[in-house]
Amino acid sequence: MSVRRACIVGTGAYLPDRVVTNDELAAQVDTSDEWIVQRTGIRRRHFAAKDEKTSDLAIRAAAAALDDAAIRPDAVDLIVLATATPDQTFPATATRVQAGLGLGPGTAFDVQAVCSGFLYALAVADNFMRLGQADTALVIGAETFSRILDWEDRTTCVLFGDGAGAVVLKAETGNGGTEDRGILTTHLHSDGQHHDLLYVDGGVSSTRTVGHVRMAGKEVFKHAVVRLAEVVDEALEATDLTPDAIDWLVPHQANKRIIDATAKKLEMDPARVVTTVDRHANTSAASVPLALDTACKDGRIQPGHLVMMEAMGGGFTWASALARW
Ligand code: ACO
Repeated sequence: MSVRRACIVGTGAYLPDRVVTNDELAAQVDTSDEWIVQRTGIRRRHFAAKDEKTSDLAIRAAAAALDDAAIRPDAVDLIVLATATPDQTFPATATRVQAGLGLGPGTAFDVQAVCSGFLYALAVADNFMRLGQADTALVIGAETFSRILDWEDRTTCVLFGDGAGAVVLKAETGNGGTEDRGILTTHLHSDGQHHDLLYVDGGVSSTRTVGHVRMAGKEVFKHAVVRLAEVVDEALEATDLTPDAIDWLVPHQANKRIIDATAKKLEMDPARVVTTVDRHANTSAASVPLALDTACKDGRIQPGHLVMMEAMGGGFTWASALARW
């Protein structure tokens, strides 16, 4: 059976120049490098410059991904950008990226699923491509979470960073089996009952302010480990594969302890888990594509490899995507 597959043919990343270490944070917040490393695995993060917007980060990552794929920007007929920190209330930050890359009319829009946003965006683009509605797509995760951190709240402000990652998808024809190159399966979930455990206390139609991140860390932690293992299992069941078939687990980079606990539940060898949280902290929608780019550029992810991606975030939302490189 011949099917259309969305193949990941290039990755790109952009991290702002400014690196902030735990010791620098400890100079202004009642915390320490030791506490942050022990509880989260985070050692440093990048923060955008004052005049750097989410779209600026996204354009740099998208341009790098196009370059990596050796695809001209004018071949792109779909841009799906995941962010919880858009430049403006409207228009979509994706349209800023479209203009920034010098593209003419096409289809560009944002997806909002916080830390699961990139996988939601990937699933949306994959569906467009399977239906023949796009041939070449850019899927981007980009965030400036530093703009929504409360520097009076040490339980959250030490956890996040800014950045952007992108992938280029190209439609190819496969046989419909798991040996096909491309995205094999995607699984998206949400449960709005958990709103109060992780949210931003601002917004256009509520407080008319931007607001700050609020989180019940312990509860989020517990849900994350259970849901992430479940959604990975779901992808394996859908493709009739077992965990040992996975070459690389590329998890959302929220916390080293969540990553380790999820990998343990899945009985995955830690050497096959891509971890960047130590250098990037939690970059929300940007975390999975940043980790993907890291493992592609350092040569770990190779053509033919099976790559499992998973994420969880506010909402709650959680998701997985399985792709053959
Ligand atoms: N520095 C020093 N001490 C701190 C800090 C800090 N930055 N933050 C909290 N503490 C203190 C607390 O005040 C508390 O002190 P007390 O015992 O005197 O009251 C103590 O440390 C323990 O606090 P807990 O909240 O119990 O710490 P915990 O071990 O749960 O770790 C953490 C907190 C890291 C937030 C953890 O709950 C966690 O990782 N949760 C997952 C949340 C997450 O990663 N969210 C990201 C967004 S969602 C997502 O992406 C999946």
